[in-house]
Amino acid sequence: MDLQSIKNRFGIIGNSPELNFALQVAVQVANTDLTVLIIGDSGVGKEAFSSIIHTLSSRKHNPFIAVNCGAIPEGTIDSELFGHEKGSFTGAVDARKGYFETVNGGTIFLDEIGELPLGTQARLLRVLEAGEYIRVGSSKVQKTDVRVVAATNKDLLQLVQQNKFREDLYYRLSTVPIRVPSLASRKDDIVLLFRKFASDFAHKYKTVSVQLDEEAKSLLISYPWPGNVRELKNIAEQVSVLSENKTISAKELGRFLQPYSNNRLPMVISPQEQHEFQNERGLLYKLF
Ligand SMILES: Nc1ncnc2c1ncn2[C@@H]1O[C@H](COP(=O)(O)OP(=O)(O)O)[C@@H](O)[C@H]1O
Ligand SMILES: [Mg+2]
Repeated sequence: MDLQSIKNRFGIIGNSPELNFALQVAVQVANTDLTVLIIGDSGVGKEAFSSIIHTLSSRKHNPFIAVNCGAIPEGTIDSELFGHEKGSFTGAVDARKGYFETVNGGTIFLDEIGELPLGTQARLLRVLEAGEYIRVGSSKVQKTDVRVVAATNKDLLQLVQQNKFREDLYYRLSTVPIRVPSLASRKDDIVLLFRKFASDFAHKYKTVSVQLDEEAKSLLISYPWPGNVRELKNIAEQVSVLSENKTISAKELGRFLQPYSNNRLPMVISPQEQHEFQNERGLLYKLF
């Protein structure tokens, strides 16, 4: 299957060699049961990789679930993933099936895997190594056949060194690592992405698409994009909705971008300075 049709099918924009390589790996491993670890900063587009992997696998007609490990309270995550028996903790008025039971035969996407508590990590390792799990409050070992795709924006090896992430789980998860590049490292994709988002929003709001002039394009490309594609999408939406003109100048675009310093560290400025900075921003971008 060629990459362009994968991109069309999953709405992925971009042509950078790193992005293409990441997609290539996803396609190659999709139809295996290997555990995949998707690594990349926040907003780079990790989510789409999990659906590519599930949809191109022989599990495609079986369930898929995405679980954000960072959004589930520590006290309930074991029960959510592995289920619990009636009366196993206060409030457990009924037995409940966990995702590893309901998704049997399918794929679980564990997003923000670095947030998983250590106890849950041990349970997950057992599923990955033996296909076995135990409901909370039970002693009965159950079998499941679930493919795990995980994602992280944290350096898991660093978490291992801090004893926050199990080393054995780290190596078990990273059988196939897929690195999704940051937006700043694929500058050629920035204008393509903006154009796509602007045209999507124009369609949504039944208007004509905004366009960037040459200076605005340069500004867009030089901006460091700490929030990656998510931030770009947001800005494309704001510009589409709020700008007075359909052709956007660098000055106008600059009003929508966060201030940044050249050394790419977040700027620490007081609210007073920030206020002054806001006023100066248009000027700064003009100079740019
Ligand atoms: N290459 C891309 N082409 C089109 N949209 C993208 C691309 N990468 C990311 N996006 C969009 O950017 C947003 C953030 O992506 P997401 O997968 O949620 O990021 P994260 O890596 O934080 O999970 C989503 O709306 C997603 O559709
Ligand atoms: Mg995500």
